[in-house]
This record gives sequence, structure tokens and C-alpha cells, in this order.
Amino acid sequence: MDMTVNVRDVAARAKVSVGTVSNVMNRPEKVSTATVARVQAAIDDLGFVRNDAARQLRAGRSRSLGLIVLDVANPFFTDLARGAEDRAAEEGLAVLLGNTDDNLNREAAYLDLFEEQRVHGVLISPLGDISERLTRLRARGTPTVLVDRQTEDHSFSSVSVDDVAGGGLAANHLISIGRTRLAYVGGPGTIRQVADRLAGARLAVAEHENVSIEVIDTDALSVLAGRAAGLTLLKRAGEDRPDAIFAANDLLAIGVLQALNMHGDLHVPRDIALIGYDDIAFAAAAVVPLSSIRQPSVLIGYTAVDLLLREASGGREFEHEQIVFQPELVVRESTAP
Ligand code: RIB
Repeated sequence: MDMTVNVRDVAARAKVSVGTVSNVMNRPEKVSTATVARVQAAIDDLGFVRNDAARQLRAGRSRSLGLIVLDVANPFFTDLARGAEDRAAEEGLAVLLGNTDDNLNREAAYLDLFEEQRVHGVLISPLGDISERLTRLRARGTPTVLVDRQTEDHSFSSVSVDDVAGGGLAANHLISIGRTRLAYVGGPGTIRQVADRLAGARLAVAEHENVSIEVIDTDALSVLAGRAAGLTLLKRAGEDRPDAIFAANDLLAIGVLQALNMHGDLHVPRDIALIGYDDIAFAAAAVVPLSSIRQPSVLIGYTAVDLLLREASGGREFEHEQIVFQPELVVRESTAP
């Protein structure tokens, strides 16, 4: 592949005009089979690669979408990206992935980068309230759909899961197996998904006088943060420990499980029941298969791109939609009665 080779070199090699080379690449049906073969042979011999930037500028938009997620190491987001890519590929579009890692500057930098790249649109799981920034982005021609979050004023389309219902499902399941001292492991609470899951759990606990819930804050939604939270719990005396843990996502739950397993005489679920959230593939594969609250992560990604493409082609009269999926309880060994 030789990036210095240009269309004129190909035309000279194939002894045709530059316009014919362009037709062979963009409208081959207008060119004779023999000429197409001759031009293709010249392209192959010279290692020519078309310069999409020029075509993109002429077309006004690149053939890609931008997807900005909180943590690309979390299988929930790679599953979501998989669904987004499936729908984008149906339209011949690529998905450019950006990872904010809870960092507002990185989130802003990716929004700038994707706008400069003139992507067809942006999917984002936002860190904080960036409605104003996204409104400016849309006003300049780049539609945006929120994934995994809604905006308060519904000024953008969004695809998410009812995390308050999900938190309620998790807490009610722990209560249904006779647990009364619940602990919610998760944070930072500034992440809307984390706050909503706790709110749902609190609503469920409030229905039962003999049940309590405490919060064990974490600084991240990772295995390491879960392990640290688990080790903190182990330092408590037996009667001060919770008899059930609801982790804000499966990565935290896996970390908690690792910590509890390091402590010889504590057994999950006999001594402490444990449930996570997302139902990533590692949940079922954990050393004690994890109960979890399933999110349709691939479908969230697929649906978000579908909404984005409809908005990109729908024009001004497009009505924003808030698509909210319902979470599902998946019961495994970690909360067996
Ligand atoms: O990014 C934090 C969490 O929010 C993920 O684990 C997933 O549950 C998302 O909804």
C-alpha cells in the first residue's frame, strides 16, 4: 500500500482519464468490464488507497459514528458497542470508540474530535450533565443519542434501562431469600446509574421493617474497587457484617467475591448472599456463579444507532424518543436460598 500514489498515477498506468478511475471506484456500472479490470489492475499494481477525507468533505459526513463510553474495560460497554456496530454495519458505517474513564476532560476531547471528524452522529453514556454541549453539537449538524442514560428534559433521544426498577429487583430478591442486613457496594454516587440502582433498592427495603441497607462507597465500578470493599467488610466482627451484598455492577461483585473467597470461613451465599448488575458473561463464569440484574446491552447499542440514523435522516420534524428497557433478574448460585 503506497499512500503517495494518487488517482492520476492510476489513470496514467491504466491509460484512462482521472474521471474514468473515479467512475470505476464510485459508479463501476457506468464503465465497461474491460476498463474496470484494467483500472483495478493498475490500482493493485500501484498499491493505491483512496483518500476518503476528500470524499468525506464533499459528502459532508464521514462514514462513521462516534461512541463514547465510561469504561471500555467493562464488558457491558463492549457488548453495547457490539450492538452499535451491528446496526452501523447494516448502513456501511464504522463505529469509532472513545473511553472517558470517568474523566470530564477526556469526554470533552472526544466530543470535539468526533465533531471535527464530521461523524454521522454521536452515541454517548455521559459522565455528567452535558446537555448544553450536546445541543451545540446538534445545532452544528451532529445528532446525538444518549445510551444507558436519559436527559431530565428529554431533549435528546436515549436508550436506557430502568435502573430504579433494577435496584428494586435486586433488593427484593435478597429479601425473598431471608436476608435482612443488606449492603450496597458501589460509587461514585455521581454516576446516575449507580444512584438510581441504590434508590430502587432503598424503595424495596422501605417496604420491610426488619430489613436495613447500608452503602459501602467505592471510587470506581471495577473489580479492584469491589475487592477493596470486600476486604473492608471482612475486617468487621461477624455480627457487624451484612448478610447480603448488592453490587452496583458485576465487576464490583466479582471483586467482592474474590475478597470473600480469600477469607477461609466465609461462604457465599450461606454467610453472605451476593448479586451484581449487567449480567456480563463473567457473571455466570465466576467461581460462585453470580446472580445479576440483566441489561440487554447488545440491544441497547443496536437500538441507539437505529434511533441516531433515523434522526440523522429525519430532519427537523424528528421527535426525540426515550426508549427504556426493563431489567431482568437472573438467579444463580451466589443467592441460592
Ligand atoms: O458504567 C457503570 C455501569 O453503568 C455499567 O456497569 C453498566 O451497568 C452501566 O449501566
